[in-house]
Amino acid sequence: MVGEKGKKEAATLVVKEFEEVLSDARIIGVGTGSTVSIIVDLLVSQGMLDDKIVVPSSIDTAMKLSSKGIAVTDPMTVETIDAYIDGADEVDPYGNMVKGRGAALLGEKMLAYKSRVNIFVVDESKIVDKLGSMKPVPIEVHRWMLRTVEKVVRDMGYDYSFRSGGKDGPVISDFCGVIMDLYTGPISDPYGLEDRLRSIPGLVETGLFLGYADYVVVGWDKGGGEVRKHSRSRGAGYNI
Ligand code: 5RP
Repeated sequence: MVGEKGKKEAATLVVKEFEEVLSDARIIGVGTGSTVSIIVDLLVSQGMLDDKIVVPSSIDTAMKLSSKGIAVTDPMTVETIDAYIDGADEVDPYGNMVKGRGAALLGEKMLAYKSRVNIFVVDESKIVDKLGSMKPVPIEVHRWMLRTVEKVVRDMGYDYSFRSGGKDGPVISDFCGVIMDLYTGPISDPYGLEDRLRSIPGLVETGLFLGYADYVVVGWDKGGGEVRKHSRSRGAGYNI
């Protein structure tokens, strides 16, 4: 499958390159998705989550961690996370991202905001010039606003769908929001789009993660990878 080798390379690289950051961290936040799963397996096998406070971004991740014997801590009880690791669906040259294929965007963004160091881990197929080029932008919407948000995004000229799968009706997030996917195409002003969407009451969160990355670790399908450093502008590393 496209990207599978790159994911493993990236996971191996992040564990190696950030060994010191992770060993110094008392509280570690864990994102959601298949890349994160590979990283969790590596961290667990090397004992790197032993004696840590581990904060999951989703029910899925909480279940994965607990199935491996790792006790998880409710994010509610944690003011600041020392290091947060997650995947992404698209990454632009500035380290801005689209996330949320796993419908965990709200939990992921809250943890990324709380974290002093954010590390996002992707295979090279996720790198784009402009966000929205390959993947839709997920949004999480309170059910009272579904019809209203539909109209707004239609008026903005976007196609959209209600995420479905695994049940009748739309995918409902861990926080009981409905997940919609917006087919924006390449986004020229991601900050403007995020502001516009977030100005709608009940549009709880978007999958645009802008200014959250301290590091993006990219795995190459041919083997190896690179660590990209970015300027963080949002969350604990910046203004808490
Ligand atoms: C889940 C996410 C994931 O981090 C993102 O979709 C990447 O997933 P994967 O590592 O499986 O490709 O945002 O909500």
